[in-house]
Amino acid sequence: MSSPSFFPVCSPLLAGNESAYVAEAMRTGWISSSGKYVTEFEKTFAEYCGVKHGIAVCNGTAALHLALVALGVGPGDEVVIPDFTMASSAFAVCYTGAKPVFVDADRATWNLDVNAVEAKITPRTKAIMPVHIFGNPCDMAALQKLASSRGIAILEDAAEAHGAEFSGKKAGSLSDLAAFSFFANKNVTTGEGGMVVTDDDTLARNCRYYKNICFPLDAPRTYLHEHIGFNYRMSNLHAAIGLAQTEKADYYRELRIRHGLLYRELLYEIPGLTLQQDQADGLNVFWMNGLCVRPEEYGRTREELMTLLAAEGVETRLFFNGMHRQPALRQFGCDCSGAYPVSDFLAGNGFYLPSGSGLAEADIRHICKLINNFRR
Ligand SMILES: Cc1ncc(COP(=O)(O)O)c(C=O)c1O
Repeated sequence: MSSPSFFPVCSPLLAGNESAYVAEAMRTGWISSSGKYVTEFEKTFAEYCGVKHGIAVCNGTAALHLALVALGVGPGDEVVIPDFTMASSAFAVCYTGAKPVFVDADRATWNLDVNAVEAKITPRTKAIMPVHIFGNPCDMAALQKLASSRGIAILEDAAEAHGAEFSGKKAGSLSDLAAFSFFANKNVTTGEGGMVVTDDDTLARNCRYYKNICFPLDAPRTYLHEHIGFNYRMSNLHAAIGLAQTEKADYYRELRIRHGLLYRELLYEIPGLTLQQDQADGLNVFWMNGLCVRPEEYGRTREELMTLLAAEGVETRLFFNGMHRQPALRQFGCDCSGAYPVSDFLAGNGFYLPSGSGLAEADIRHICKLINNFRR
């Protein structure tokens, strides 16, 4: 919850059974990755997404990597991802030895431009990984059309999109499998954590196998391992928080949507600002409320506005830098040539406003008033 003089960019809202469940895990000694909260959280969150399986892991980046491994993505493969995303999306592909291939952002929704995907598909394309950026779902119908006829898998990076919907179906149920993050700023949090969700029994099994050092799933442990696996397990303590959060996921979603719509209403009329537009047939859950400053119309640069807001106790954060600009990815051998004008515009002019579920309506009105007053 924000104080009158400081508005954090995002702080968690722990308004349900979090403390009680964590205390119970402590009291019973189930603090590692065995314990009832892990299985209950997996079941409850998968149900929330409308799919059969949930595989809890230690963070969203691990969830992405595990999902790619489960799909069999490896060296020599390519995975099409948006240029405008967090580095985790691209890095997870690199961990497998495959290469991420970038697609520019759509000017309106800021998601990957579905019209630019086809040109990036090659015989090496194993998967498309759309990211529902800032909680705004991608046009999954267009992507399914491109992928299904070619036998290409789709993996949703749903790290930012708990409860988002496209065509009435929840994020996590819109493709072969999906990866969520439960970092402290997410709409549903475990502090640190992640989950792969899927309807596919084989993919779920693969995830369970690789997540736990490739211990056999059905046979006694001999400590002989057939494959190289990972320790991506989530602890029962984190899962206790996650179960409590999922019980109130609809409430948190409603808060984020209410805040997002209010920001949009108040900022829309201010000249020189560009806001994210909703995907048609989608339900945006407004993980983060971002805006881009067009200095020639607003009268100040993004940096000036961020500095003025900071002086008033309003914390903000720069948008991601595009993947084609990442030195690490260039060194890894990714093709970083080509133009990504929309991604560059977002990275060069965009920042987030305070967006946590605990914000009060008065906080949002105050912040928007400041932004209006700072215009020259
Ligand atoms: C789009 C996207 N993908 C992946 C991740 C990685 O999640 P985590 O920080 O839990 O590893 C994030 C984190 O915010 C994200 O925004």
